[in-house]
This record gives sequence, structure tokens and C-alpha cells, in this order.
Amino acid sequence: MNIRELTPADAPAFRELRARALKEHPEYFGETYEHFVGRSPGDVAEWMASANSFIFGAFDGNRLVGIARCSRRTDSPRDAHKAQVTSVYIAPEARGKGAAKALMLQLIQAARRWSEVEELRLAVVVDNESARKLYRTLGFRGFGIEPRAMKIGDKYVDEEHMALLLDRRD
Ligand SMILES: CC(C)(COP(=O)(O)OP(=O)(O)OC[C@H]1O[C@@H](n2cnc3c(N)ncnc32)[C@H](O)[C@@H]1OP(=O)(O)O)[C@@H](O)C(=O)NCCC(=O)NCCS
Repeated sequence: MNIRELTPADAPAFRELRARALKEHPEYFGETYEHFVGRSPGDVAEWMASANSFIFGAFDGNRLVGIARCSRRTDSPRDAHKAQVTSVYIAPEARGKGAAKALMLQLIQAARRWSEVEELRLAVVVDNESARKLYRTLGFRGFGIEPRAMKIGDKYVDEEHMALLLDRRD
């Protein structure tokens, strides 16, 4: 499994895999499949090129099989110490081989490019045991459960918020 940062040239493969994630697991992500596939290829490529976000991909040969995104806000100085991890997904055929862990380790390392960022945050649906375990293995700690964080149809989903403090002695 090769891990590298995605560039706008990876946009078609990224679009395909992200759409698959949202279709397969609508309950685990904030964005809907319909919203994502409605975005133009140019919009997604522009989103991928932003200086305030990056996406890492896991490749099996040339095929993109995993993704994870990190982003930060620059419009609010009081939020500048935090970055968000989102869009974590490994295709089912590539799971259980350490791809998510390898992808996340590289993403955590890459978040250090932003000198102000001191911690990574994420939210995970409480019944998503495999993802919660992955994040705990990486050092993320839960700091609260948000009841009814998302409403999907007539069903509510609770989320655990988790944080990882970066060692910023560099
Ligand atoms: C969660 C997910 C990203 C894990 O991907 P993966 O490549 O299979 O995970 P890895 O093989 O790197 O496993 C790393 C760690 O995650 C945990 N983990 C992964 N799959 C697990 C499972 N089925 N059950 C329990 N723990 C699991 C374990 O702690 C594992 O470490 P270990 O093997 O040393 O015990 C993948 O199952 C997935 O894409 N799920 C659907 C989308 C999703 O839930 N995204 C997260 C949204 S917040």
C-alpha cells in the first residue's frame, strides 16, 4: 500500500471513491451522496487545491483505495490551533491491512506544516466501533458525545468528538 498526498490530478479518482463512501455509509458522514455528486469536477479540484486543506490517499498499485482529509479555518484566530480530520474511508476490499492507520499517521505528520495547529479534531458516529478503535489506537481521545449530532431521514445519530494533541516541539 502506498500513501501519498493527493493533487488536483487525482480529482477523478477521489470523486469516485468519496462518492462510494457516501453511498455505502451515509450514516457515517456529514455530507450526503446527492450533495457531493452534484458538485462539479472543477469545484472538487479547487477544493482539493486549497492551501487550508489536504487529502492523503492510499494506493493499491495505481488504484486509489483510501482517503483522509485535514482542513483548518483561517477566518477565526481563536480556532487557529485546531484542524479537522474528515472524509476517512478505506474501500471494503482494502480494509484490515493497516491502510487507515498508515494513512492517518501520514496525515497527522503532515498537519505539522501549519505551525499554529496544536491539535486535530474529529467526530465519529458512536456505533462506528472500527473507526473509534482506529482513532484511539492513534492517540485520539474522546472529549464528549454530541447527542443527535445528525438527522438522517427520521433517525438521529450521536457522535463522539475526539482530539489528538500534536507534539509541537519541532
Ligand atoms: C474504519 C476504517 C477507516 C478502518 O480502515 P482499515 O484500513 O480497515 O483499518 P486498519 O487496517 O488500518 O486498522 C487500524 C486499526 O483500526 C481498528 N480497526 C479497523 N478495523 C476494525 C474492525 N473491523 N474492528 C475493530 N477495530 C478495527 C483497529 O484498532 C486496527 O488496529 P489493529 O489491527 O492493530 O487492531 C474502515 O473500516 C472504513 O473505511 N470504514 C467505513 C468508513 C468510516 O467508518 N469512516 C470513518 C468515519 S469517522
